[in-house]
Amino acid sequence: MDLAPDLDTPSPARVYDYFLGGSHNFASDRALAARMEQAMPDIGHIMRANRAFLRRAVRTLVEAGVRQFLDLGSGIPTVGNVHEVAGQLAPDAAVAYVDIDPVAVNHSRRLLADDPRAVVVHADLTQPDTVLGNPALRDLVDFERPVAVLLVGVLHQLTTDPAPIIAHYRDRLAPGSYLTLSHASSDERSDALALRDTYNKGYANTARMTLRGRPEIERLFTGFTLISPGLVQLPEWRPDWPVEPDEDPRRFATYCGVGQLE
Ligand SMILES: C[S@@+](CC[C@H](N)C(=O)[O-])C[C@H]1O[C@@H](n2cnc3c(N)ncnc32)[C@H](O)[C@@H]1O
Repeated sequence: MDLAPDLDTPSPARVYDYFLGGSHNFASDRALAARMEQAMPDIGHIMRANRAFLRRAVRTLVEAGVRQFLDLGSGIPTVGNVHEVAGQLAPDAAVAYVDIDPVAVNHSRRLLADDPRAVVVHADLTQPDTVLGNPALRDLVDFERPVAVLLVGVLHQLTTDPAPIIAHYRDRLAPGSYLTLSHASSDERSDALALRDTYNKGYANTARMTLRGRPEIERLFTGFTLISPGLVQLPEWRPDWPVEPDEDPRRFATYCGVGQLE
């Protein structure tokens, strides 16, 4: 895969980085971010809530004893990424980051060059055999032991049904493994459709957003049992403090959950 980034075309990893307050984004990314904010003014707030869900989920998984993470669609490791959260609680935790975006991969590799408990793989998560066959990943992750697969904020970037892809990963996991995901939806917010259209136009043919409904997202957990509180909106998943009374969780237009392999 080519690792030379095209900086004139926006990329989902860099637009997300912009909304998280990172510095790995360029004029093309910021221009699209501004158009996305016109379609949905609180989109940045939602993206930050997505990253906060990821952090809470990783913490919960480490507390449950998980020591191996396979982060598919990991993005640019802006503040509070998986290796930081997991590493603080369990220094022996291993993290394999996988992303299709060259900027995300290059930056992650620079950041983690001296970390023997992390690898960064440049790959397309929709090719599970390629991902799982990667030698560096296989050296780090022992698939005979539980692994937490993270698919956070990425599945709505797949135009094909994610279910068979997830099943492929699931069938390679040891008992006690977990699946963590979040997925955008227009179930509760019709302006998510306008955001999707802006997104699809902005990325031209390089990325597309596919919104899915609750039953379709719930089905992605086939073979896993959702842990409490089930499939909920971003701020409702084991919040660190009660959700603000004036903050309607449905405004986040993103379902999330964690399931354990049956
Ligand atoms: C919005 S970011 C989410 C980052 C991180 N998971 C989080 O939730 O904080 C989505 C990431 O998925 C990556 N991505 C999209 N499609 C992918 C694919 N088919 N294979 C691997 N990565 C992909 C993008 O490059 C981007 O970095």
